[in-house]
Amino acid sequence: MTAFPIERTATPKQAPPDDSLKFGTFFTDHMFMMNYDEGRGWHDPRIVPYQCLSLDPATCVLHYAQAIFDGLKAFRGADDVIRIFPPARHAARLNQSCERLCIPPLDPALVAQSFEALVAVDHRFVPRKPGTALYIRPTVIATEPFLGVRPATSYLYFVILSPVGAYYAEGMNPVKILASDRHVRALPGGLGAAKTAANYAASLYPAEEAHRLGFTQVLYLDGVEHRYLEEVGTMNIMLKIDGTVITPPLSGSILAGITRESVLTLLRDWGIPAVERPITIDEVIAAIEAGKLEEMWGTGTAAVISPVGELGYRDRRFTINDGKIGPLTARLYETIVGIQYGRLPDPHGWMRPVRARGRSRRMSGAELAYLPATAQAAAFRARTLSPREVAEAVLARKAAAWAVAGR
Ligand SMILES: Cc1ncc(COP(=O)(O)O)c(C=O)c1O
Repeated sequence: MTAFPIERTATPKQAPPDDSLKFGTFFTDHMFMMNYDEGRGWHDPRIVPYQCLSLDPATCVLHYAQAIFDGLKAFRGADDVIRIFPPARHAARLNQSCERLCIPPLDPALVAQSFEALVAVDHRFVPRKPGTALYIRPTVIATEPFLGVRPATSYLYFVILSPVGAYYAEGMNPVKILASDRHVRALPGGLGAAKTAANYAASLYPAEEAHRLGFTQVLYLDGVEHRYLEEVGTMNIMLKIDGTVITPPLSGSILAGITRESVLTLLRDWGIPAVERPITIDEVIAAIEAGKLEEMWGTGTAAVISPVGELGYRDRRFTINDGKIGPLTARLYETIVGIQYGRLPDPHGWMRPVRARGRSRRMSGAELAYLPATAQAAAFRARTLSPREVAEAVLARKAAAWAVAGR
């Protein structure tokens, strides 16, 4: 692991209480920065106090949106271990977005390390309450001051962190989505598969219209025929029809969601048929009318799994699964969240434990002995214990069992 230079803040903030956390409104003490200059490549990776950026008004990102970002989360388990959900996959996707926006590629290993190192420095901001997390936002912007449409010669990579609240205050709430045949998010050959600012700017107007009609988000249809399901504003979409899970393929105009990929992996593990294939809005409506659409949900970092309770299309509204959360939707949510908080085994190695700086977050074997068996197993798997500590834990556990038996 690269050791990045760290300049610590002189004015540490107070971490907000877990109960007060919203999404993306509070930022931690430090940020990660690295610069790119033509002829020099990416240079000077560093951790510095969280700060404002000073940009020339001609900076090209402000005019031509040569910018990409990603979003992932770190979770604090009941065992006090902080784990990131899967940093290497997000680093790889960040580079795919860079390629589409003509931004020079970054070293994916260094990107993943930047997440871990920054979270380690600001570990005290990772909230504890179940459902809360530390959101990680890596971003690249073109910083050259010039007017003219061409790739810039200088860039800034930065990472900021924001403790975020439970996405669902009172459990999961089915959302209402509006399938739009009037507005397009992306076109074949366009920017849809990249996580770039312009896609989100394009989604604001349709989303406002959907809100006015009482819907939470827009379900985009393809930009050519306006018939095929693409994705929701910030989520990929999945449907269970007649026992089979269907999700639109990665055709180039939708984002390759990391949660989508994880859900498909779990479905394969569980032996539930799942296919990536084009599906039209007419097929979805026919399945609803035939009583064959069992469940529908969105997948994404923010909410993990969002059940869809209502689908709007043109002037019609359809209730899905009586507006309730389906059993598969609930199982997927519980499983992914269980893995994220270290309560369940992580058979695919999605979680990356973070070594907190400034204090040991390793538990002693004796402490570990009092954790539930699943949390103990997670701590062993996360390799947060040395072989000596594992032996200590086993002994302490035996001692605890003897003490109970002898009472
Ligand atoms: C447009 C879009 N689609 C899908 C997703 C879901 O992707 P992920 O599961 O990687 O968060 C997101 C969120 O990042 C998104 O912004």
